Amino acid sequence: MAKMWAGLNAGVTDQIADDFNSSIGFDSRMYKQDITGSIAHAEMLSACGIISQPEKAQLVEGLLSILEDLESGALPIDPGSEDIHMFVEQELTKRIGDTGKKLHTARSRNDQVALDLRLYLRDEAVELKALLKELIAALHDQAAAHKSSIMPGYTHLQRAQPISFGHHLLAYCMMLLRDAGRIDDALRRMDVSPIGCCALAGTTYETDRVMEAKALGFSAIALNSLDGVSDRDYCLELMSVLSILMMHLSRLSEELILWCSWEFKFITLSDSYTTGSSIMPQKKNPDMAELIRGKTGRVYGDLMGLLTTLKGLPLAYNKDMQEDKECVFDAMDTVKACLKVAAPMIRTMTVHEDNMLAAAQKGFINATDLADYLVKKGLPFRSAYKIAGQIVAKCMADGQVLETLPLESYQAFSPLFEADLYSCIDLRACVEKRVSQGGTSLRSVEMQLSWVEEQLENF
Ligand code: ARG
Repeated sequence: MAKMWAGLNAGVTDQIADDFNSSIGFDSRMYKQDITGSIAHAEMLSACGIISQPEKAQLVEGLLSILEDLESGALPIDPGSEDIHMFVEQELTKRIGDTGKKLHTARSRNDQVALDLRLYLRDEAVELKALLKELIAALHDQAAAHKSSIMPGYTHLQRAQPISFGHHLLAYCMMLLRDAGRIDDALRRMDVSPIGCCALAGTTYETDRVMEAKALGFSAIALNSLDGVSDRDYCLELMSVLSILMMHLSRLSEELILWCSWEFKFITLSDSYTTGSSIMPQKKNPDMAELIRGKTGRVYGDLMGLLTTLKGLPLAYNKDMQEDKECVFDAMDTVKACLKVAAPMIRTMTVHEDNMLAAAQKGFINATDLADYLVKKGLPFRSAYKIAGQIVAKCMADGQVLETLPLESYQAFSPLFEADLYSCIDLRACVEKRVSQGGTSLRSVEMQLSWVEEQLENF
């Protein structure tokens, strides 16, 4: 069939070129946004006297009937169409005749595709945020349930200082809440309508771009038509946010994977979110967490792909830009899928408090508190640090831990040691003493929990 743009061009392309050129395979998911945009465009054209009222009514009715039939499945998408915009327009003309051909007055596919993508991503971001909220709530609830469970906190993956498991999980709530804020920021900058920029230079018709933008829920219009049609910052920005979010999910996944290994045994993931090995009967593999970690690379790749596609493009629209959609759709689909599985996986995990505590007891993680004890007795911190280090070395040589080393042995290192030192190096006391704002003491953890609750209420 000859193309809608047949004219100077014969409008007949080779099948291979057609398939190569077509984007309907991936942009048909924007059908709703395409139709919504077209309805607003028809309303604006008629309000500005560019088409008549009856013509507008015909266009809107035709567009709504297409939407209804697409939703019900009565109208299948034609895979032979060039893209969703052509498909809808072609179908409209089929249904209402020549009036259908008036819809494309004072617009171009260049501003239409820019509009549809913004509308689509705006809708997707709502879903994304709802899923993110679920995950933050799951982490919050586990943190609340384990606000007093002691575990070793690590630096360099070496046991460092005792913390509560609640405190550890709350760190992820903070990261993910920042991600939610970044989604909002990206949405704010995306809130600009490109429709009416037309192909690149604006139009000779007296259109009302502000009216059309308002009808579509935008608070502003692109003020430069070249920029309006060639801007894909909103895709890049959203994918940057998605990449940071995936980085957070990946770090969480890595910890889950470590924690459910035999070496740690801090948690057990529910059977619903683990798999068995086809050969080793003892295995319970954290596949979901590993896949989240793995898919992080893929989302970064989507971002890098589009950045690279755009970097050498002259203004304004170039067909290269059709490559924007698969990247941004894949990134969004992937992150949503990860969030969908992460939230219930966190909710259903079993926490082995005894193992966490036992791990905390073996690693001299109260050595800082031992040094602090001497500081409180008047020694400068550096000197106290040295003595504590020597005591740890002695314990290691003797197969002791700080809690069991006799007082006389302590006193051989410093006469400042007295019997009250044992209560100072007790793990629970070590956690409770970290009362600084944002620290791991129960009071601080409870404050963090309520702050997260507040954020979730205003999400
Ligand atoms: N399918 C195209 C895309 O996704 C629509 C824009 C076409 N514009 C053009 N000048 N050929 O980018």
